[in-house]
Amino acid sequence: MKKVLVTGGAGFIGSNFIHYLLCGQKALELVVNLDALTYAGNLENLKEAEHDSRYRFVKGDIRDKELVGRLFATYDFDTVVNFAAESHVDRSIVEPEIFLTTNVIGTQTLLDAAKRQWKINPEDKYSREFRSGVRYLQVSTDEVYGALGKSGMFTETTPLSPNSPYSASKAGADFVVRAYHETYGMPVNITRCSNNYGPYQFPEKLIPLMIYNCLQNKMLPVYGDGMQIRDWLYVEDHCSAICTVLEKGKLGEVYNIGGNNEKANIEIVKLLLKTLNKGEELIAYVKDRPGHDRRYAIDNSKITSELGWAPAYSFEEGITKTIQWYLENQEWMERITSGVYQNYYASMYGGDKGGS
Ligand code: NAD
Ligand code: TYD
Repeated sequence: MKKVLVTGGAGFIGSNFIHYLLCGQKALELVVNLDALTYAGNLENLKEAEHDSRYRFVKGDIRDKELVGRLFATYDFDTVVNFAAESHVDRSIVEPEIFLTTNVIGTQTLLDAAKRQWKINPEDKYSREFRSGVRYLQVSTDEVYGALGKSGMFTETTPLSPNSPYSASKAGADFVVRAYHETYGMPVNITRCSNNYGPYQFPEKLIPLMIYNCLQNKMLPVYGDGMQIRDWLYVEDHCSAICTVLEKGKLGEVYNIGGNNEKANIEIVKLLLKTLNKGEELIAYVKDRPGHDRRYAIDNSKITSELGWAPAYSFEEGITKTIQWYLENQEWMERITSGVYQNYYASMYGGDKGGS
């Protein structure tokens, strides 16, 4: 892993991943961040990285074949980590089309460019000798498996059964990645992680939204009865798991990533209120999300036993660090809620030209 293309690196997990790579990967020569800077992309997340000579930002769309092909030809990446996506379930209910084009067609565009640059030979598929030294990693989600009842966990062999346009588009992308492996012998992995939390998460998602509303003394909108369960993982642990898969994962394999931290939404909301010294009268039970998945839970035994990965943070440690971060970075939050963060690109890179 020397020359890495990270897509969607200005978003929540992608920006944490770029910081993680720049801090921890000694052999790293170059990381190119290709990001379209949709509403979810915030270059302010990467201020520190701009001083690192190994980092380059390119403003662009993963669906842009010409641009993606040019980047591969210019930088000859050996590794691709695809985070770029439309990622918010609520938005996918209102506007599904962009989810399908970005998440599915964008993934296929990246795969095609990598296949051309890496001169993937379909015969490799039969010899099972995949092109060595190169790898494409698709960052997927546990939501592709659908919803669980009170018991059971998602394993890598659980049939995909997505319920929202978001999860359907992520499942579609996973099938395309799988097909490129099976048909052409593309050296790929797919990771399916549970809900992440931590620094730089856009305040439309549960934890940063609730922290922001608490600090503003605004109501906290809890969907339905608040008893939906999510399996939470601190974002840095997701980053370390992705690096583990890039280093040791068996090509063609799917790895679930999770930290065994199942919590009901209402538990999280009450914990945040208590930590921030606010009263439960701020809770507002609102109309439920259509198609709302009741419970997610990840069985992480494949990645822990086969690759030796384990999360470094307990939920208590992770949530304490997260709350602390949002308290110390209220200006970051204000710049998002006021929209000012969208001016950062123009001030750093000038006009609307692709930066690098
Ligand atoms: P995010 O919405 O914070 O970031 C997405 C980034 O992708 C943004 O910077 C955006 O500008 C960029 N982007 C969107 N469309 C693009 C396009 N067409 N071309 C180039 N860039 C584009 O998302 P996130 O929460 O950081 O999630 C990153 C990835 O991880 C997604 O693929 C998501 O499905 C997956 N994932 C997220 C979670 C979670 O809890 N957040 C859990 C599991 C998996
Ligand atoms: P979210 O952060 O949107 O992640 P996902 O839908 O991908 O799991 O939501 C996490 C859970 O919190 C989900 O069950 C929906 C719920 N939720 C609320 O109850 N209120 C809110 O305002 C939001 C954004 C989410």
